[in-house]
Parts: sequence; C-alpha cells; structure tokens
Amino acid sequence: MLQGEVRILTLRSPSKLNLFLRVLRKREDGYHEIASLFQTVDLFDLMHFRKDEKDLFTCSDPSIPIDGSNLVLKALKLFRQKTGKDLPVRIDLEKRIPIQAGLGGGSSNAATTLFALNQLFETEVPTELLAAWSSEIGSDVPFFFSLGTAFCTGRGEKVQNLPKLFSSDLLLIKPKFGLSTPQVFKTMEVGSLPERSIERILNSFYEEEPQYFNDLEFAAFQLKPELKKLRQELVNQGFTTVQMTGSGTAFFCLGNGEKKIKDLFSCQVRFLNRNKDAWY
Ligand code: C5P
Repeated sequence: MLQGEVRILTLRSPSKLNLFLRVLRKREDGYHEIASLFQTVDLFDLMHFRKDEKDLFTCSDPSIPIDGSNLVLKALKLFRQKTGKDLPVRIDLEKRIPIQAGLGGGSSNAATTLFALNQLFETEVPTELLAAWSSEIGSDVPFFFSLGTAFCTGRGEKVQNLPKLFSSDLLLIKPKFGLSTPQVFKTMEVGSLPERSIERILNSFYEEEPQYFNDLEFAAFQLKPELKKLRQELVNQGFTTVQMTGSGTAFFCLGNGEKKIKDLFSCQVRFLNRNKDAWY
C-alpha cells in the first residue's frame, strides 16, 4: 500500500488451532516432545510495517506489554542480528486474537514480523531460513511459515507441510481468564496420558471422522476447573466437538450448538491457508 511517499506494508497475522495435540515425553532441557496437527484460521491481527526515522512499536491493546518481552520486538532483534540490516522501522499491531488463549497470536506476530522485514528491506532470505531462525523466538513460531496445515513435532518447531483440509465453520470460545503455557506443561503428568497411534490419528483428518484431542486439556482443567464446566456447558448446548487448543483457554466448537453465550469471547472462523511466496 502506498500512502504519499511512505510505503506501508500491511499483513494479516493469523491464529492457529491444534486439531490434535499429543504430548510424548518431558525432555532434559525442560521442554516436552509433542506431535500435533496445526491449522491456521481466519481470525487474524493486522500488522503495519514501514521504514521510518526511528524505531516505533505500537499495539492497539494497552494490556499487552510493548517492551522487549513482546515477540514482535524479539523478531525485530533477531532479524537485525542475522541480517545486519538495522534501519529504523515502525510497526503497528492491531490486536484481535485474544492472548493466553492457545491461539498462537504472539508467535504469529513474530513470524509475520520476520516475513515483513524481509520484504521491506529486500533482504531475500529464503522462507525456510526465516523459519529456522524463528525457532529461537518460540516453539510455535516456525509453524506460521508453513502453508497453514502442518504436522509439528520436536518441541513444535519441526514442521512438515500437509495437504489442505476441508473446513467447516467453527466457533471459537474463550473465557475472560487465560492460562500460561509453561504452567500448563508443568502441571501435566505425561505418564497418565493414554497411548495413541499418531499415524492413525493424522490419517483420520483426511478421512471421515477426525479424532480431535488435546493432551494438555486435563492439566488446564486442573488449573482452572471453570474451564471443564464451560466445556460441559458447550457440549450441553449441542456442539458435537468442543476442543481446547494449545495450552488454552480457547475452545473450538463444531456442530450446530445454540450460541447463548454471555461474557465470553466468541468468533466464527474457518481454516485459512496461504499460497507459497505470499503471506496469509
Ligand atoms: O517455546 P516457548 O517459549 O513458546 O515455550 C514456552 C514454555 O512452554 C517453555 O519454556 C516450556 O516451559 C513450555 N513448553 C514445553 N514444551 C513445548 C513447548 C513449550 O514444555 N513443546
């Protein structure tokens, strides 16, 4: 987009769902080995980037810190370290994805920042390399460099693109409170999780009956019993699938449930995929 002399690059920064999430074991470095089917959806933040005279970062949500702990600024720092390009840049983030939701909003913002800076400064870093760099920012960041449907392993950073999935309408629901990812992982007892065949589960998403599940759900319910109650209410309202994403606290719901939901974030979404060489 051209406004006067200034080129403003506006990109969508999508959220993600974990259609299934299996936790395999705890590693010596404190992370957990996972196997998960990730899918981007069309609830997105908007991010505006432009070259400027000095650095500026703004966020439409005043509750989100805009200091060095923000993954956008971590991405900017990483880009500068890796490429040596440190021209000043202005970044404006219009936040729509709820935080502490398991929707990957912060990780998506970081990936979008790396993609945008690479365009703005014409550094021509291959997407695969941006993805590899981005695992330093967080385990979920590399996924956003996939085409939107991917099987992720390791701590989440090993990403294998998969064919697009058929998307029906999904309803996202999130209570006011959130959960911290490290706390949920810490609460979880890997030994108590049921054995499952990952291959069979993955295949189920390309056949008739997808097997949605999330090994982090039980730990999230232990930390916030209200979440378990909310899940049950949604099931009682007629949704056939009610599944937590990531470490919570958002759920995605499938089926024709009644939408009599008060005091909750809610939003209708569909799967979103990107074309190679373009962003979402
Ligand atoms: O990678 P990221 O910084 O997003 O992870 C945040 C925290 O979540 C980690 O420090 C770790 O406590 C937990 N985590 C984990 N296993 C993963 C991903 C995250 O235990 N696969």
